[in-house]
Amino acid sequence: MKQRAKIVPEAEGVVAEIGMGAAPNLPLYDAAKVKMVIGIEPNAGLRRKAERAISDSDLAVELADGRAENLPLDNASVDTVVLTYTMCSLPDVPGALSEVRRVLKPGGRLLICEHGAAPDAGVLKWQKRLDPVWKVIGGGCHLSRPIDRMVESGGFRFDALTAEYMPKTPKIVAYDYIGAARPI
Ligand SMILES: C[S@@+](CC[C@H](N)C(=O)[O-])C[C@H]1O[C@@H](n2cnc3c(N)ncnc32)[C@H](O)[C@@H]1O
Repeated sequence: MKQRAKIVPEAEGVVAEIGMGAAPNLPLYDAAKVKMVIGIEPNAGLRRKAERAISDSDLAVELADGRAENLPLDNASVDTVVLTYTMCSLPDVPGALSEVRRVLKPGGRLLICEHGAAPDAGVLKWQKRLDPVWKVIGGGCHLSRPIDRMVESGGFRFDALTAEYMPKTPKIVAYDYIGAARPI
């Protein structure tokens, strides 16, 4: 939650949160800046959990079944897209980022808090070695995705980006990319 709290409060306007999961981010949004949050979550069990968090929130939240690669949202309809710990498990990141570009209004931003490839060769070697097994046991999660380069090659430029190890966490899952990017 400490990592998510470094970026989620920057969301504004109409927000689409892709892979909302059980909606842990809801308490982190700044209610003064957010008009509504549209949560997109393909997993029915997680949607049920999210419903509970939504009922505890004062924000206007709509929850929809859907996938990042085919967002159930109109073109240029969203001010902010939020992705937290979701890019690791998307089956088609370029397709998802193309959809993010499609739904963002001009001037809109993508906010990310994602774990991915570590900068240290020794850690990265283990991330790559474990990836084939990890994605089977971890619901499609990849350890070694170069999140910054993937976002940039998906047609975005970062306004701000920090990348750091989360403390007290095994290094293979601890390297977080936290930032804000705009379509170019
Ligand atoms: C590790 S969880 C993170 C959940 C939440 N964003 C968080 O910060 O805790 C990954 C999420 O991505 C969702 N997901 C997996 N594939 C997806 C896809 N193709 N499109 C949208 N969401 C997806 C999963 O159902 C799950 O909710």
